[in-house]
Amino acid sequence: MNKDFAFRPFFHGDQRVRRIDQILANLGYCSRREARGWVEKGHVTVRGALADDPGQKAHPSDVLVDGEPLDHPEGLLLLLHKPLGLVCSHDIREGPTVYDLLPVRWRQRNPVVTSIGRLDKETSGLLLLTDQTPLVHRLTSPKHKVPKIYVATVDRDLAPDLAGVFAAGNLLLEGEKEPCAPAELRLRGPRVAEVTLTEGRYHQVRRMFAATGSTVLTLHRERFGGLDLGGLNPGQWRELPLDAFSA
Ligand code: URA
Repeated sequence: MNKDFAFRPFFHGDQRVRRIDQILANLGYCSRREARGWVEKGHVTVRGALADDPGQKAHPSDVLVDGEPLDHPEGLLLLLHKPLGLVCSHDIREGPTVYDLLPVRWRQRNPVVTSIGRLDKETSGLLLLTDQTPLVHRLTSPKHKVPKIYVATVDRDLAPDLAGVFAAGNLLLEGEKEPCAPAELRLRGPRVAEVTLTEGRYHQVRRMFAATGSTVLTLHRERFGGLDLGGLNPGQWRELPLDAFSA
């Protein structure tokens, strides 16, 4: 773990007390209009008492539908093994998305479940997904220098001095004015490199290799901060506690 990436207490989860119809709509159960019908038909209880007003304010954790607690009422934080061929955009015109892997109800949440940073369509590996907007901002901010480890295979043997070039902090990507922050590169084989980045520019790994004369053939993210994929297969995810990034 990069010592610059300081863990610190972080307010997490949606703890807000709000209208029952809003809670159910925000958690992807139904529309607010439908939620009103559910309340009128007696499907909803708050702290054990039948709710009779959809405008009644409640804490999401206190609400049951047909006797069942709500689905992740405080929020979601997921660690996904992103397979190749899926995009991180929500725009389905760009092709199948990582969100297609999730249960429909999670896809209907508001705030939406979104990725913390992005991986290209043809990059696999560790991707975090959450509906916690402040967490997205915090973990993608270059200020926080969260280390991310990628493994790239390239089309030619890598020069031994490439580690120095990546570490120097003066590598300019095509079309950019600010050089990349220093990055760590370790050779795992003549054409295989492990690269640790603390920023997340567009296509950054591919463009760093392009700027130094090689083409990335495959790219996989192994780690994000202190997290790795564990035994997850492509397309599988595991849930993380919402305070996974707190002190
Ligand atoms: N760098 C890339 O080039 N692509 C990714 O998906 C992530 C980092």
